[in-house]
Amino acid sequence: MASEIMSAFDQLRDREVAATIPVYGQLPFVPVRAAGCDIVTDDGRWILDLYGGHAVAALGYSHPRLTSAIQNQSKELLFQSNAVALDIRAHAAELLISVAPESLRRAFFVNSGAEANENALRMALVATGRSKILAISHGFHGRTAAAGAVTWKSEKWYGFPARPFDVDFIPRDDCQAAIDMIGDDIAAVIFEPVQGVAGAYDLSQEFVETLRDETSRHGALLIADEVQSGMGRSGQFFACQAYAIEPDILTSAKSLGGGIPTGAVLASDEVAGCFGLGALGTTFGGGPVAAAAVVAVIESIRDEGLLKNVREREQQIREQCVVGPVKKIRGMGLLLGLVCDRPAREVRDALLEHDILTGTSSDPDALRILAPLVIEDQHVNRLSAALSTIAPADA
Ligand SMILES: Cc1ncc(COP(=O)(O)O)c(C=O)c1O
Repeated sequence: MASEIMSAFDQLRDREVAATIPVYGQLPFVPVRAAGCDIVTDDGRWILDLYGGHAVAALGYSHPRLTSAIQNQSKELLFQSNAVALDIRAHAAELLISVAPESLRRAFFVNSGAEANENALRMALVATGRSKILAISHGFHGRTAAAGAVTWKSEKWYGFPARPFDVDFIPRDDCQAAIDMIGDDIAAVIFEPVQGVAGAYDLSQEFVETLRDETSRHGALLIADEVQSGMGRSGQFFACQAYAIEPDILTSAKSLGGGIPTGAVLASDEVAGCFGLGALGTTFGGGPVAAAAVVAVIESIRDEGLLKNVREREQQIREQCVVGPVKKIRGMGLLLGLVCDRPAREVRDALLEHDILTGTSSDPDALRILAPLVIEDQHVNRLSAALSTIAPADA
């Protein structure tokens, strides 16, 4: 039986390797459907998903409000571009800005996190007329030309012959370096309030406030990349709200559509005012199905009290999950880094044997939790119990 299962998995893997560009190391199971927080595999396993498809599945799977919104919208009007006004797009934009930091009054919809950052950076360069961007060490912003240029250590894979603008990196949490580096030549500083790919590293309050103060003082813009930390994952709609700062531009994607690809750039009136007809563009961004998904995700987070749930589950994880190989927990909400006493990859593999899916990160010791916002206390109990079966390295 086991060898038949393996061979079904291997056969599928072989087909993907043969027909795609095989750049992903893939997990050893084949999902066939999913419901709530569980993924059901082709061999009948039920895997508790605490990784959410890279932080996308905010509402878990088969959420009735999201699936019927997508279904109904696709039957009514599957697609029209920004060449026409759509009630559902206006509704999505109004809702999104109503839950965002107060000064962000305008939304521009795109298709992914990298595309949102690409536009945000371009907007900052155009709006300020300056040509240098600062980013934060260890940050990740995507793999396109501009987003990759502000990603820490991207030279390993960047591939473009040159960066499109000058970039420098402020060492994370180094307030003095931020003060020294942010000057009148800087167009923008881009940062993730909680660095996701870096293993859920939450920047210090003092550092984030310094970024805000110094950019304001020098006429530079502050861009918050909330592609991973946003849409409820921090326990607030956006992590900037937990830090009580107002960025000039904020980017969102991943959870924004709950699984339907969509992203958004949010901007203040002042920044948005620099862009007139034809200054930004996209074919698919703001399409009706994506917009219907955005509405369903925001309304579900609001109506189901999911921000409160995120904060309660975070607290429970902090109380119950510093066990077994876990030495400490960092991050915010359900963007958590469980810092382990061994390579996180080993802990992830051990948890998968207990049918629990977690993620790794660019920090080899940090196991990432990016659970759906709908996880329940029993799920955290399961995680804690499974971690307890793994003996600490020094036991
Ligand atoms: C903080 C952050 N920004 C941008 C991106 C890129 O998003 P996408 O993969 O949708 O282009 C990611 C993806 O992991 C991310 O975590």
